[in-house]
Amino acid sequence: MIKTIAVMNMKGGVGKTTMTANLAGSLAHFHQKKILIVDVDMQANLSQYFMEPEEYASWIKREGDFKKKETVLSIYQKRRIVNPSTVRKKSKKEPPKLILKNLTFRVYENGNAYVDLIPSTLELMDLDTTNAENRLKIFLNTIKDKYDFILIDCPPSMYFFTKSALIAADSYLIPVKPDHLSSFGFVLLEKAIKQLEEDTEKNLIQIGTVFTLFKDTILMNRTMANMKALRGRYFFDNYLKDLTGTGEAAAFNKLIFEYPRAIDNVAALKNITDEFISRINDIENE
Ligand SMILES: Nc1ncnc2c1ncn2[C@@H]1O[C@H](COP(=O)(O)OP(=O)(O)O)[C@@H](O)[C@H]1O
Ligand SMILES: [Mg+2]
Repeated sequence: MIKTIAVMNMKGGVGKTTMTANLAGSLAHFHQKKILIVDVDMQANLSQYFMEPEEYASWIKREGDFKKKETVLSIYQKRRIVNPSTVRKKSKKEPPKLILKNLTFRVYENGNAYVDLIPSTLELMDLDTTNAENRLKIFLNTIKDKYDFILIDCPPSMYFFTKSALIAADSYLIPVKPDHLSSFGFVLLEKAIKQLEEDTEKNLIQIGTVFTLFKDTILMNRTMANMKALRGRYFFDNYLKDLTGTGEAAAFNKLIFEYPRAIDNVAALKNITDEFISRINDIENE
């Protein structure tokens, strides 16, 4: 069963976060799915996509309505394992138990369907990563049943947080901008994933590669065709265009189907989402 998907690319600015946000929203909007999105990028762009600046600031400072709220950092921090029989009083130092309700911010609702976000924070910078790689997986395993899909928005690197996402995930989706330099990174990415699969002795399922930030130029069309000629890769037929309104939607904390100036990418987004679902069905029925 495909449930947890890492949205990744070593390159930054290729539309990963915008794709994660809108694919999640679209799965809830058009397919009535319950979605969890997890921001493991310390730049916290996915969090800021959905949260107003004051809201985000209060959340990470645990102020006002957000006193008990936590970020993805809590998931990565060491939890002390206490033997109940030897503990009389709860030590103040003991980190509180992770409660899903305190970790999630509901960013979209459509009847019974919704999108919940686990926000990120720059504080991930100071995380002691010793033995922490598996913690995201361990946590997600405890709450998996509550969602149809979990999308993890990765930072633009193959280091710790992306690795931990790939360890937690059963599959991955690669958003890519069809420009010349991105096409080099694309080949390297494949090598990096193979290496991780070897290191962790697991097989990751590729949901596929989806183009975004597409401009109808001769060069982009050529680059897209060249990339599609790579063997062993699955490419989505549909892609998001590079449109001002699409970038703008984030500034208003809106999904592109909620933002009139982004309307020209909505059909493409819906088609990508349909492809995402049918691709997963195909893989599961193989
Ligand atoms: N389809 C698109 N059309 C126009 N602008 C986009 C589109 N997708 C993303 N952007 C903008 O491009 C920039 C990089 O996108 P982002 O999703 O943050 O990429 P990444 O997560 O890969 O760094 C952001 O400013 C975003 O608003
Ligand atoms: Mg991003």
